[in-house]
Amino acid sequence: MSYHIGNVRLDSKLILAPMAGVNCAAFRLLCKGYGAGLVSTPMLVINQIVAAPEKIINQACFLKQEKPVSVQLVGSDSRLAEQATRIIEPYADIIDVNLGCPEKDILALKAGSFLVKHPDQIKKIVTPVINNTNKPVTAKIRIGWDDKSINTLEVVKILEDLGVSAIAIHARTKEEKYSGRAHWEEIMKAKEKATIPIIGNGDVFKPGSAKAMIEQTRCDFVMIGRGCMGNPFIFKRTNALLATGSNIEEPSEQEKKKCFMKFLEYYENYEKIRSFTELKQQAMWFTKGMTGARDLRYNLMKAKGVNDILRIYKAKL
Ligand SMILES: Cc1cc2nc3c(=O)[nH]c(=O)nc-3n(C[C@H](O)[C@H](O)[C@H](O)COP(=O)(O)O)c2cc1C
Repeated sequence: MSYHIGNVRLDSKLILAPMAGVNCAAFRLLCKGYGAGLVSTPMLVINQIVAAPEKIINQACFLKQEKPVSVQLVGSDSRLAEQATRIIEPYADIIDVNLGCPEKDILALKAGSFLVKHPDQIKKIVTPVINNTNKPVTAKIRIGWDDKSINTLEVVKILEDLGVSAIAIHARTKEEKYSGRAHWEEIMKAKEKATIPIIGNGDVFKPGSAKAMIEQTRCDFVMIGRGCMGNPFIFKRTNALLATGSNIEEPSEQEKKKCFMKFLEYYENYEKIRSFTELKQQAMWFTKGMTGARDLRYNLMKAKGVNDILRIYKAKL
């Protein structure tokens, strides 16, 4: 089966959510290997792309093997959006615009979820992106600023009229950040009205939740964030469930360890700018669900270099 966003073909309905501090190239590649149909970069700030293009491109570390890749931009200045789009476009299969980030430094740029609060300003960022690329442009939104100002349908309509190719909806308000339960009914309402693909997002931690999200909301794609941290298997298991209706087993202890080793290999081989803190954090996430995970994490906390991490994981093999 294949699916499309604009003219980009995806082999699965499952999309790796953009995640700052998580989606390094090695992790994106791993998720692709486990069956993500599309992988996303972390958000890239347009001001930083224009100020130091080489640095940001090296940090993002685009790889041929990970394609198709969605590159996420965040910002609000139209001129910077034009320039950043032209800089980033050769590396991207899809360009995504972030209209959902609730973090203070992004709101200070009048970007991210600031723009769902001020929908009249959405075109300031989306139009220059669309006008400077032939690649499909998508947007990722939250359902509103707070529970008194939920405006999913208004924002979806604006984005559709501007010409985006798909919209990812993290079904929470800005105020909710990551708390409470995602309001999937907003995804359903958007899907009923929209003429472009809708990507459902929020609280898919198990294959069964992705299936339930599709059944309840009729969304075209499912975006997975926290559920795949240290757990790229979720893509394989969810693809299997969607294809056959049956669950496949959770990965064995051995598979989990091998998977982290693969991550480490990719990290060492491909990452242009390596950070031990980042690597250690990933190592911690991969302990999830392992026997003796607490001891493993305790030992990892004390690790001083890659060799320590290798030794600690190898001792588990
Ligand atoms: C560590 C972390 C970093 C994130 N960074 C981004 C980001 O760069 N851009 C973005 O649009 N959303 C970002 N998000 C939000 C996720 O893409 C996603 O919308 C959210 O986690 C809800 O999906 P989930 O329930 O599957 O995790 C981030 C989330 C987490 C947990």
